[in-house]
Amino acid sequence: MSRPNIDWTTLGFSYLRTDLRFLSHWRDGAWDEGVLTGDNCLHISEGSAALHYGQQCFEGLKAYRCRDGSVNLFRPDRNAARLQRSCARLLMPTIPTERFLDACRQVVLANLDYLPPYGSGGALYLRPFVIGVGDNLGVHSAPEFLFSVFCVPVGAYFKGGLTPTNFVVSRYDRAAPNGTGAAKVGGNYAASLLPGREARERGFGDCIYLDPETHTRIEEVGSANFFGITRDGHFVTPRSPSILPGVTRDSLLSLARERLGLEVEERDVFVDRLDEFVEAGACGTAAVITPIGGIQNGDRFHVFHSETEVGPVTRRLYDELTGIQSGDVEAPGGWIV
Ligand code: COI
Repeated sequence: MSRPNIDWTTLGFSYLRTDLRFLSHWRDGAWDEGVLTGDNCLHISEGSAALHYGQQCFEGLKAYRCRDGSVNLFRPDRNAARLQRSCARLLMPTIPTERFLDACRQVVLANLDYLPPYGSGGALYLRPFVIGVGDNLGVHSAPEFLFSVFCVPVGAYFKGGLTPTNFVVSRYDRAAPNGTGAAKVGGNYAASLLPGREARERGFGDCIYLDPETHTRIEEVGSANFFGITRDGHFVTPRSPSILPGVTRDSLLSLARERLGLEVEERDVFVDRLDEFVEAGACGTAAVITPIGGIQNGDRFHVFHSETEVGPVTRRLYDELTGIQSGDVEAPGGWIV
């Protein structure tokens, strides 16, 4: 395998074929050992439940190169646990945490040449996924499953990284009450393709989804979570059974409280009361922290801190989070593998 010739400074978030990926098969009630393979194509039955009935789920986590050359995985146990919940929701066999961590480790070690260097702002994004495969026609759970982890070097998800991005409130819903909004399943993202494209065609980074019952509360920012900083300095993020419980969101709740000394609140965020916030952001593994410049809601455009400058609390959260991820700042116990 030849060494990749990559310009680490211009990386965005797009697919690049790396050398090896992990692949494991579930048959007759058990996962096999799994292998690392150079083949980036899957050979699956045309009847696979993943293709017709969306029986699939995935994860996203990153490996970071540290100053001393070592490699950090950030809270991978959280991704393992969420994948287990997503699998259970879609009637798929779960991946034990140790097996998940081992697959991630194997993939990182097998693709070290693709790990962006320390200080480049990039990371190696790991994409674990589970899909239902095997011959099938009716709406049933699949007879067999695949678990795979591949990796891609990435930079910023939203153009510009830590620069404010504007978003527009969507007229589409992302997830139904009691639906699959809290699971990381492809169907949620399929439903977001059209709203996302419409938002980008209008010049926005992505759209804001409201709660599907009343359309008054903010739930998500595209494929990331929302947070806001109130005038009295509280860190607020929506509480809802239909949002994705993000690892970055959870980490920011803890860092805001423990490291920045802020009050934190998980509660309703009403879209017609945005002026309670002096800063706002989108957070997620891919998005990291993207400051929200403004939100368009119908014919009203609300600007938070600024459309061009990053707010002071957002910047402190960003520095703390990314410092921990790249090993420059001491991590809370158990966060780094
Ligand atoms: C992530 O932040 O890891 C995501 O899954 C977002 C998106 C790329 C689907």
